[in-house]
Amino acid sequence: MERTLSIIKPDGVERKLVGEVVKRFEGAGIRIAAVKMVHLTKDQARLFYAVHRERPFFESLTEFMSSGPLVAMVLEGENVIQKNREIMGATNYKEAAPGTLRHDFATDIEKNVVHGSDAPQTANQEIAFFFNALEIS
Ligand code: RTP
Ligand code: MG
Repeated sequence: MERTLSIIKPDGVERKLVGEVVKRFEGAGIRIAAVKMVHLTKDQARLFYAVHRERPFFESLTEFMSSGPLVAMVLEGENVIQKNREIMGATNYKEAAPGTLRHDFATDIEKNVVHGSDAPQTANQEIAFFFNALEIS
């Protein structure tokens, strides 16, 4: 059984999309193994997105990700890393397929409602960033 980290980004929380996002995951047969609301500091957002530190959007992205509370979740299921990315849709909402979260709700390439880990190693690192073992069941 695979695990991945999902984040409902501050825009998704602000726009009251938490229930809708959870409904799509559970409707796809994915189990929520952990959940918490967190308001990251700018430095914590910089740490989380350290892989993107050379990218031109790094400052703006970490400003956005620390602008309000987010909901972090551990998703569990078969092939859940890939499945979650399909439910989210392409990073750029203009290229996201109809029926995906980003197609349906994103308003901007940055404010794109959700984050999902992209590989098993990053999933493990990102889960450990938000949760300790006792918090995952
Ligand atoms: P995520 O990490 O949030 O799940 O998204 P992703 O894998 O689809 O996209 P990634 O390339 O990892 O980029 C991380 C987040 O940075 C913002 N972004 N802005 N202004 C831009 O050109 C730009 N490109 C990416 C988005 O919020 C993206 O989700
Ligand atoms: Mg990414």
